[in-house]
Amino acid sequence: MTIQLRKVLISDEIDDICLEILRKNGVEVVKNCNLSKEDLLKEIAGYDGLIVRSATKVSAEVINAGVNLKIIGRAGTGVDNIDTEVATKKGIIVMNTPGGNTLSAAEHTCTLIIALTRNLGEASKSMKDGKWDRKKFMGTELYGKTLAIIGLGRIGKEVALRMQSFGMTTIGYDPIISSDESATFNTEWMPLEKIWPLADYITVHTPLIPQTKNLINDAVFGKCKKGVKVINVARGGIIDEDALLRALQSGQCGGAGLDVFIEEPPKDYTLAKHPNVIATPHLGASTIEAQVRVAEEIAQQFVDLAQGRSLFGA
Ligand code: NAD
Ligand code: MLT
Repeated sequence: MTIQLRKVLISDEIDDICLEILRKNGVEVVKNCNLSKEDLLKEIAGYDGLIVRSATKVSAEVINAGVNLKIIGRAGTGVDNIDTEVATKKGIIVMNTPGGNTLSAAEHTCTLIIALTRNLGEASKSMKDGKWDRKKFMGTELYGKTLAIIGLGRIGKEVALRMQSFGMTTIGYDPIISSDESATFNTEWMPLEKIWPLADYITVHTPLIPQTKNLINDAVFGKCKKGVKVINVARGGIIDEDALLRALQSGQCGGAGLDVFIEEPPKDYTLAKHPNVIATPHLGASTIEAQVRVAEEIAQQFVDLAQGRSLFGA
């Protein structure tokens, strides 16, 4: 399959290597990260391709306005900000770069687990407030604790391997990863009902789909050990935010590491402000290395398609 790729719009902050690769291959590229929704609707008709990260919402309206659009690329993993159904109906190819930011997202997850267990957020804040409070911030070791990983795909597996080096036991669930496969990265596959009472920490690494929406909810918190800690570097809404707040307030949940939120940026910062929460503004993939990788990958995929080479992605 080959497509005529003359002009591409990049509407989110993506590393310049993406522009370089496309231009080197004869594609005209415009990068404009400040387009309002109205401007994007006006502009998009002039482009064959669109490359986004997560800020641009590629809605049905945008796709319908893109009368010449042939391809939409997501420099990242999740394609939740693209209406893939409408794109597919219109014969527009949607591509992503799964894998390019896996290590960064896994490292960010591990960072949150470690930071949670030693109260790093609040301890650092107290020093910045000029306090030397050694009693308030007693932590716990990770050694010997059980980390439950929900979603044993690319990121889940890398988190397991890294946290095992702290002496954590890793268990997990994934509907398409077999127990034999999870055993290859020393993680015992278990059904969810068996996982909840065993976990000291639960980290979620699934897409946000109907089956995973509010996967961790009031009923699940009720089945967990008191003080269980939860981490979400996947998508807001996999952990029910209202249930999480209730569990934090009652002490049933001992802490949460959150990189993603149902609404980004959130309108309500109550969760992020809770003393037992360490929150980051969707930084899982925000490393120089990951951003160069995803920018290179998406550009190369566009060029491959324009030159009739094989397809890859969402
Ligand atoms: P992946 O596709 O490699 O793995 C996801 C796994 O979830 C799959 O193995 C799938 O079978 C499993 N899964 C699906 N439904 C499930 C269910 N009901 N219960 C348990 N497991 C289920 O994806 P990945 O690259 O590991 O990414 C995981 C998540 O992280 C995605 O939501 C992605 O968008 C997100 N992500 C976030 C950041 C960030 O910046 N915070 C960066 C990269 C990826
Ligand atoms: C992804 O799905 O790749 C992440 O959300 C990271 C990003 O913001 O690009």
